[in-house]
Amino acid sequence: MILLDGKELSNKIKEEVKVEVSQLVENEQITPGLAVILVGDDAASATYVGSKAKACKSAGIYSVVHEMPSSITQEELLDTIAMMNKNPKLDGILVQLPLPKHIDTTTVLEAIDPLKDVDGFHPYNVGRMVSNLDSFLPATPFGVMRMFEEYNIELSGKNVVVIGSSDIVGKPMASLLINAKATVTVCNSKTKDLAAHTKEADIVVIAVGVPHLLKGDMLKDGAVVIDVGINRLDTGKLTGDADFEDCKHKCSHITPVPGGVGPMTIGMLLKNTVKAAKLREK
Ligand code: GUN
Repeated sequence: MILLDGKELSNKIKEEVKVEVSQLVENEQITPGLAVILVGDDAASATYVGSKAKACKSAGIYSVVHEMPSSITQEELLDTIAMMNKNPKLDGILVQLPLPKHIDTTTVLEAIDPLKDVDGFHPYNVGRMVSNLDSFLPATPFGVMRMFEEYNIELSGKNVVVIGSSDIVGKPMASLLINAKATVTVCNSKTKDLAAHTKEADIVVIAVGVPHLLKGDMLKDGAVVIDVGINRLDTGKLTGDADFEDCKHKCSHITPVPGGVGPMTIGMLLKNTVKAAKLREK
């Protein structure tokens, strides 16, 4: 069994980004800039945003974290985004999700300039991704694709089961896999017999937020398991959507949690920010 080491790979990606940033600074006098908007005081979101800012700093990317109280109106948030759209120092704009209930997420995401949409959540970028055109790719599925590439995991002609159909992970993951010529099945909480699907899968990608949903007896021998879940147990321990100890005997490759897909996402966000900086009008 090969452990898919996201921590090590994300360090490699961060080094790649550092080199690209220093070349941009030297050759074009461009310092890539990222704005992260954090609304409210959700502890997990604050932690993610903190990690994003820290990673920018060590890669040489200029970053601002714009914190807003959960009491702000949608108009105030839209005004902030409009200002950032116009700010030439900011190449990327990311609104940390989830947003408070009184704010319409779609309206907010559609207000971001698609050329600054480093999360790849704007319908313009979603559409381009589905059509296999150049676009910003959502960081988590983008990171998973990089893992497949790095570990030489073939996708063409493979049966891939994606469990979870969220806009952030499941749907874009399925699109990228379809574009890579995999045969893709997307399961969700209404799926009648999950194991019947996973037993046929060469690769399972799971992103549902249910600890240990995927068991070894649901897999075929030699399957690849990509676990996007990060769940905190009552003990405080982090664990994935796959039962790692139970699955690992059946797998050819598996991601650990923590240290698998999680660390990859920040690396891919940095990549997207550099991509956005390269699109800056000269
Ligand atoms: N919340 C959970 N994942 C993400 C993500 O990838 N981007 C943003 N903006 N918010 C998130």
